[in-house]
Amino acid sequence: MRLLITGGAGFIGSNFIRYYLARHPEDSIVNLDKLTYAGNLENLAEVEGRPAYRFVKGDICDATLVVRLLAEERPQVVVHFAAESHVDRSILAPSPAFETNLHGTFTLLEAARQYKVERFVHISTDEVYGSLAEPLEADENFPLRPGSPYSAAKAGSDLLALSFYTTYGVPAVVTRASNNYGPYQFPEKFIPLMITNALENWPLPIYGDGRQVRDWLFVEDHCAAIEAVVERGRAGEIYNIGGNCSWENLSVAREILRLTGRPESLLASVVDRPGHDRRYALSSAKIERELGWTPRVEFAEGLARTIEWYRSHDGWVKRVKGGDYRLYYQQHYENREQTFSRL
Ligand code: NAD
Ligand code: DAU
Repeated sequence: MRLLITGGAGFIGSNFIRYYLARHPEDSIVNLDKLTYAGNLENLAEVEGRPAYRFVKGDICDATLVVRLLAEERPQVVVHFAAESHVDRSILAPSPAFETNLHGTFTLLEAARQYKVERFVHISTDEVYGSLAEPLEADENFPLRPGSPYSAAKAGSDLLALSFYTTYGVPAVVTRASNNYGPYQFPEKFIPLMITNALENWPLPIYGDGRQVRDWLFVEDHCAAIEAVVERGRAGEIYNIGGNCSWENLSVAREILRLTGRPESLLASVVDRPGHDRRYALSSAKIERELGWTPRVEFAEGLARTIEWYRSHDGWVKRVKGGDYRLYYQQHYENREQTFSRL
């Protein structure tokens, strides 16, 4: 089988490429990635040079390139990860999220329609359901109430993918996963930011009171779920993929300090994210029932493995946290610290 992966140089995409090629040595992958600040070919050093793997640098919004690639490669399956994935960046500057997440998805769907791909897996997020009060859990029929430019663009792209199934029969499947963590995650996201700051004895910036709730999914479990959807997911369907692992942010930060042997005095309450969604919670009953998938990695194990990975990849961390990252960090966090007392 030939697969076109978009955004394969990012966190989840690179984990998926390594995971998939290790299990399907007979298949081949073309990875289309623009190499934005979040794309990093170092993440794919393990597969570079293999005959079953080809990298193409390019933008999913470039219709000429996308059509040419589909004509050349004739992939049976597209797994579409490419996105502007960070909520805070989409708040600072919303335009790239709309361009890539909406227009880019449209460009790919149009090409998939023309070249009759057999499966189009659109990777989306639980953020499209918005913030949920206790004890609600979103199933796949839950109303969409995205709260940030990032999640609004993702919700729009989900609807586009499903409309291409209904209207043109493009065999699109939408997956909506909860917060991923694990090796190779860009340290703008909460868990790798907390780990790398703790290892460097820097303050851990906690938005507001830190009592917001996220459901954590180890990236390898997410890869296994996507593999199941590629193989057995039904066209026109949505599958939630949750980690069954709800934690308050502050508790996660405290656990990271404990596991890295750092003091709680590093915790710093900072000004909250505008429109911050308080709680996400998913029901994954459908994928468990239909495709036999469940998350396997417990949070204690996943977090320990993730910390160990960041400890043993300090070269990767230094390179990623240099240059533009420093500017982003200054712009985003400078003058944001409040009091520590509320924590
Ligand atoms: P990431 O930011 O780590 O990687 C995104 C990748 O897409 C990068 O390699 C980047 O270069 C590439 N890219 C961006 N714009 C592009 C464009 N116009 N053309 C081609 N390539 C482009 O993201 P991630 O965390 O790996 O997320 C991957 C997907 O999973 C996204 O669609 C995201 O919405 C979804 N998702 C992420 C999470 C999470 O917790 N990280 C959870 C659920 C769903
Ligand atoms: O839920 C799935 C989504 O998870 C994905 O669709 C997104 O691509 C991914 O970025 C993630 O979105 P979140 O906004 O939930 O993740 P983030 O890592 O940015 O933040 C997690 C929580 O931690 C959130 O409540 C905000 C908080 N936070 C985050 C940062 C970066 C802090 O308190 N301090 C911080 O510095």
